[in-house]
Amino acid sequence: MTVRTVLKMGHPLLMKPSKPVSAFDTPELQTIIHDLEDSMRHYQGVGIAAPQIGIDQQIMLFGFDKNPRYPNEAAVPKTILINPVVTALTEAEDEYWEGCLSVPGIRGLVSRPTRIRYTGYTAEATLIEKSVSGFHARVVQHEYDHLNGMLFPYRIQDPRKLAYTDELDKLSEQQKADIF
Ligand code: NI
Repeated sequence: MTVRTVLKMGHPLLMKPSKPVSAFDTPELQTIIHDLEDSMRHYQGVGIAAPQIGIDQQIMLFGFDKNPRYPNEAAVPKTILINPVVTALTEAEDEYWEGCLSVPGIRGLVSRPTRIRYTGYTAEATLIEKSVSGFHARVVQHEYDHLNGMLFPYRIQDPRKLAYTDELDKLSEQQKADIF
């Protein structure tokens, strides 16, 4: 079990596109995947991307049954996605208070397309192809952003839509709607 340190916003590796994976089904790739799994579990993430643990490769992991950081969300199947491509299937967007292991303690109200299609590969180079909506679509887009050097605060045009998680937790849904 190897829980890796998660790099935080400001680290250069989080601000540049990751390199595509060229060798599949290797012990090296399996080690990276295990480290991603151990780290995501340890930090209670709903997703994690390789650059967050210092690895410059297009690998992301997401999925959970129940998650204490997002207690109201339905399960998302645990998925390893390598060299992914994500495309929006609708122009409709919704806003959600997103967090990130690389931006600890802070949430931001991020607008994203509600429905997407994603493709990518498993560690054994099997093609994955899926169309999803809701929280599943949001998590995939968030992790995909990491592989493109993008963190959620960069997507927020109004800095007032950033807040500390412990302050947000004190507000009712109505208060949040009134303030933000
Ligand atoms: Ni993140």
